[in-house]
Amino acid sequence: MSVFVIGGTGFIGHRVVRLLAQRGEMVTCMDINPGAHSFADLGAQVSSVRGDVTQFDDVMAQMTKARPERVINLSYFIGSDHAPHVAMKLNILGMDNCFEAARLLNVKHTMYASSLAVNGKQTHYGNRPVTETDEVHGEYQYAKHKIVNEWQAQDYTEKFGMLITGIRPANVTGPDKVRGSVDHVNIITEPARGNPISFPFKDAMRSPIHVDDIAEVFARVLMSEKPQYRIYNSGGTGISLGEIADIVGGYLPGAGISFDKDTGGKEASGNYLIDNARLVREFGVQYRPYHERVLQIINDVRRDKGLPPLR
Ligand SMILES: NC(=O)c1ccc[n+]([C@@H]2O[C@H](COP(=O)([O-])OP(=O)(O)OC[C@H]3O[C@@H](n4cnc5c(N)ncnc54)[C@H](O)[C@@H]3O)[C@@H](O)[C@H]2O)c1
Repeated sequence: MSVFVIGGTGFIGHRVVRLLAQRGEMVTCMDINPGAHSFADLGAQVSSVRGDVTQFDDVMAQMTKARPERVINLSYFIGSDHAPHVAMKLNILGMDNCFEAARLLNVKHTMYASSLAVNGKQTHYGNRPVTETDEVHGEYQYAKHKIVNEWQAQDYTEKFGMLITGIRPANVTGPDKVRGSVDHVNIITEPARGNPISFPFKDAMRSPIHVDDIAEVFARVLMSEKPQYRIYNSGGTGISLGEIADIVGGYLPGAGISFDKDTGGKEASGNYLIDNARLVREFGVQYRPYHERVLQIINDVRRDKGLPPLR
């Protein structure tokens, strides 16, 4: 089966491409930066092409060539500091180009990444897990654009009967994450490199999910026949930076992690209590325990430094 992945050389994207290839799919990866990840080891199963999702002609030309049955768009600007015109082009127009091309080419299932950012701060909901049916409170550029993407997907679905599914990933973590929220990554990778690191608030809350887990979620939902819902929370592990520091310290005694203040971060934290019952019930996803993922990330860093793994 032909699958088309936009943004396929990115942090999450290249893992999704590899999982799809492992499942035997023929994958076309379109990215503005195809050189960022090589799929040469996968031979003819993965074609990597350069294309700009903001250019409708690029999307149509490459998708027409690939004739995909399934499409996923993972291209995006991470963060909210981008110039409005530039961000709008990639995040809103790019997403629309993907949906419109999928419509014209009768793609069976289209997927995209939304984000837990649509929910905004946890304080909007109190001390309870947030579901997909809760009202969204996202305040910044990135969150607002994701909210528009979700609306656009619904509009295409209602007007054209398309099958479009979104996932709201939590704080995706992995050794090579460099864009967006990275405190929950650096608190592991910097001590693993032997570097001290400091953060403003010990009680700042995050909801990490390992990149291997979210890639599996995207692959599984994309290849399913007909998801029951149009949007799914990925869920993650609701945890404070202080608690992550304790886990890291358990593996790396003397890890130089410090905090300016013990309290003051929780109130300002984004959504970290997330209900992912939809995804678990329908797709049977199970994430590896978070502390095992912390050890995996430490050992990824150690491997890159030529050090033996910790057990
Ligand atoms: N990483 C996270 O923590 C996280 C959390 C929630 C949601 N998400 C969402 O998941 C998706 C993937 O995130 P990621 O972390 O892999 O991001 P990433 O920045 O690593 O990957 C994005 C990819 O899109 C490509 N791209 C950028 N502009 C393009 C263009 N004009 N045309 C074609 N390709 C272009 C980039 O080259 C890159 O390979 C995004 O939609 C992101 O918002 C990520």
